[in-house]
Amino acid sequence: MTAESTPVIVERHGPVWHVQINAPARRNALGRAVVEGLAAVAREVATEKTVRAVILSGAGDKAFCAGADLKERRGMAEPEVRAFVTLLNDTFNAIAASPKVWIAAIHGACLGGGLELALCCDLRVAHEGARLGLPEARLGIIPGAGGTQRLPRLIGVARAKELVLTGQRIDAAEALRLGVVNRVAADHLDGAQALAAEVTQCAPISLTQAKRAVDLGWDLPFEAGLRWERACYDVTIPTADRLEALAAFAEKRAPDFKGE
Ligand code: COA
Repeated sequence: MTAESTPVIVERHGPVWHVQINAPARRNALGRAVVEGLAAVAREVATEKTVRAVILSGAGDKAFCAGADLKERRGMAEPEVRAFVTLLNDTFNAIAASPKVWIAAIHGACLGGGLELALCCDLRVAHEGARLGLPEARLGIIPGAGGTQRLPRLIGVARAKELVLTGQRIDAAEALRLGVVNRVAADHLDGAQALAAEVTQCAPISLTQAKRAVDLGWDLPFEAGLRWERACYDVTIPTADRLEALAAFAEKRAPDFKGE
């Protein structure tokens, strides 16, 4: 088993980085050290030009992430709980708003804050044996890291309410049917790598602007959404990568994007 001295392991290989939550003895639960590690990675990824996509996974063979660290939480006074939930939300929001594409590679348990973390990613690939759910209401709380907001936006209010108001766990096939995950794979890491390879064929500035266009535009009134799309499109017009794509097309070769 991986040594747990580093709560978040980052492999910085080329355009696709691999970020792994490394607390398998607690099923990669979101303790303070893990969340602070994720916050640091989110900051680094946002400013590091070479990285275009991030694969986020959990260590060990049991869980992507079992949600809040219920052992750590038990020792926290109420003000500490409030402060921690603020840190958790700030971190998750930074991942969701990242200029880079985040892909969750989900295996085993993906529960509570673990599913909320996956929902902050742009894309989700699940191992065929994964189990996903938001059990918070069974624990005397409610999803507190975006789950009640991101899940209905992703799959619709009625379907989201069924998961939130029952706390049920669903399998990967059901998650795919509902649209909670994009793909199911026999190997979640291979599946995420394949998806990342497709993503990184795109121009880096295009990825950032397309993500902004969707995330900040989809719930605007339609005409305002189209104006927002145009504003994001305009950012790509003066880029060298746009001219490189046109040249590559004319020369019948693959483009060599520089993110400029
Ligand atoms: N916080 C802290 N520790 C956790 C944890 C969590 N969320 N989830 C699991 N662990 C710990 C267990 O306490 C156990 O520790 P121990 O060996 O000291 O007893 C260890 O991880 C293994 O847990 P276990 O239940 O034996 O593993 P499993 O692989 O059979 O089941 C889960 C894994 C995730 C399905 C199960 O542990 C579970 O349901 N955890 C709670 C998940 C939850 O409700 N999260 C929502 C929080 S809002």
